[in-house]
Amino acid sequence: MKFLITGGTGLIGKSLVQLLIKKNHDINILSRSRGEDTKRIRYYQWNPKNQTIDFSCVDDVDVVINLAGENIFGLWTKSKKKKILESRLNSLRIIKKLLKNKTNKIKHVISASAIGIFPNSRENIFDENSTQKGNTFLANVVKEWEREIESLRAFKVNVTTVRIGMVFSELGGIIKVLRLISKSRFLSFIGNGNQKISWIHLNDLTELFYTISQKNYYGLIHAVNNNPTTMLNLITNLTKKYKFKLKVFIPDVILKSIFKVLFLNDFYEDIANSNKNVVSERINKVHPNLQYTSLKDL
Ligand SMILES: NC(=O)c1ccc[n+]([C@@H]2O[C@H](COP(=O)([O-])OP(=O)(O)OC[C@H]3O[C@@H](n4cnc5c(N)ncnc54)[C@H](OP(=O)(O)O)[C@@H]3O)[C@@H](O)[C@H]2O)c1
Repeated sequence: MKFLITGGTGLIGKSLVQLLIKKNHDINILSRSRGEDTKRIRYYQWNPKNQTIDFSCVDDVDVVINLAGENIFGLWTKSKKKKILESRLNSLRIIKKLLKNKTNKIKHVISASAIGIFPNSRENIFDENSTQKGNTFLANVVKEWEREIESLRAFKVNVTTVRIGMVFSELGGIIKVLRLISKSRFLSFIGNGNQKISWIHLNDLTELFYTISQKNYYGLIHAVNNNPTTMLNLITNLTKKYKFKLKVFIPDVILKSIFKVLFLNDFYEDIANSNKNVVSERINKVHPNLQYTSLKDL
């Protein structure tokens, strides 16, 4: 089988490419930079912002996996927020151009999305049937992102939307960010630390993407392990593992005010104080054997 992967150079993409090579598949990677081809991997250049692409990237491709998008960590300036939204929409728009203007045999497009579509909530548990959506910056980005993913169906391909939870891995994402912060040997948590974190390990996530492509699973699925943790549990676990000296409690009113002064209210709601209990009623049917279901497995 031949795969075309956008964002194949990122955290999830690299891990997926390794898995696909192990399973003897061929992979085309769409990247904004040049890469070095190998026996199984070919790099093609695109620029979603300018809507340019090497159309031959799609030759003989069966499945497209879309993982491209500006990383959400960093300072949420006006220009960063614009990039977070537009990189995701522009990537899908150019995939549409591919499907429309170039003869191809693509049967299935699988695209990343995010559980950031849901509002913060102490009481509610969200699964694939939940219709309630958030109204923060990130929730609105994900709503537009998913509308664009859905619109691919007009090109007679099967579409899967994978709403990804917080990805845990030594290699990047939130764990790497917390380890960087912890260089000062402090880790802090906000409020009582009971904010829910719905997560999936990188290895399970890449296996899930692969299974979706092999089992032809179409529609929406939440990529979470159905065992959300809390900010406090995560930090306590990391404290033991990496021998951080101190956990610091920051009252949420203080942190909220600091973020407000810095014009970073959105970042506070969507990332720093995120609180989402998201589960999947579908993942056990599609990919029942997750390896990482508790923090002890990390
Ligand atoms: N990691 C998580 O915890 C998590 C959780 C929920 C959802 N997701 C979503 O899953 C997808 C993959 O996540 P990831 O963690 O692998 O992300 P990542 O490590 O940041 O990689 C994303 C890739 O997208 C491309 N990219 C970056 N900025 C871009 C821009 N401005 N325009 C076009 N392409 C750009 C880059 O590829 P090139 O430099 O080669 O072009 C990069 O390798 C993302 O859409 C992310 O939002 C991730």
